[in-house]
Amino acid sequence: MAGREWDLLDGVFAPPFSATTGTAMELLGLTGDHVPAYRRDGSFLEIGSGTGIIAVTAALAGCGRVVASDISPVAVENTRLNAERHGVGGRVRSVHSDLFDALGPDERFDTVYWHSNFVLAPAEYSYRGDHERAYVDPGYRAHRRYLTEAPLRLAPGGAALLQFSTRGDVDRLRAIAAACGRTLVTRRRREFAEGAETLEHLLFEIRESC
Ligand SMILES: C[S@@+](CC[C@H](N)C(=O)[O-])C[C@H]1O[C@@H](n2cnc3c(N)ncnc32)[C@H](O)[C@@H]1O
Repeated sequence: MAGREWDLLDGVFAPPFSATTGTAMELLGLTGDHVPAYRRDGSFLEIGSGTGIIAVTAALAGCGRVVASDISPVAVENTRLNAERHGVGGRVRSVHSDLFDALGPDERFDTVYWHSNFVLAPAEYSYRGDHERAYVDPGYRAHRRYLTEAPLRLAPGGAALLQFSTRGDVDRLRAIAAACGRTLVTRRRREFAEGAETLEHLLFEIRESC
């Protein structure tokens, strides 16, 4: 993927089986001919790094400080392995964290990004394993937290980004954002085929409402 080879551990969100990671790379401008949606010479926080393909590619593209967090321990190890494989182990810190919890209180970034688990599950749904966390978010609890906390993690002039899908409930997401004092600005969108379906992924910028 993206002209490089990657480790993929069992139980980690698997880019070969979904077009969404490739779409993420295009939306961010890490591949293809888009202008970067992140600050190329800046710092980059990826929530939910999975294999680490996005975080590692951001480091290889020039981001000097990259932090990759995931709630799945095996994804944290996968990201670490891929950072080592591509020689950026010293610049990509892979941390086990529920969203921002394991970060220092003062850590700020030029870009904060999450390709999220956008499928809405009932609020009372209990995960049967970490792998499900890559896909579904009961009651959009994690999204509510991300919308609230991501803008607070920005360095001056930074951008808090969320990659979401038309498979998710966009209206519900916007309502949660409004309730949290946030506005979602669509920075980019891209359609792609998954099986017989045409899906669209949206790259939202989360802004604090005035
Ligand atoms: C759709 S996958 C994206 C993986 C990878 N970024 C990619 O594009 O291939 C979502 C990722 O978010 C992680 N995740 C889900 N809930 C999380 C949370 N509360 N905190 C941190 N990571 C989370 C999942 O474990 C999964 O790796």
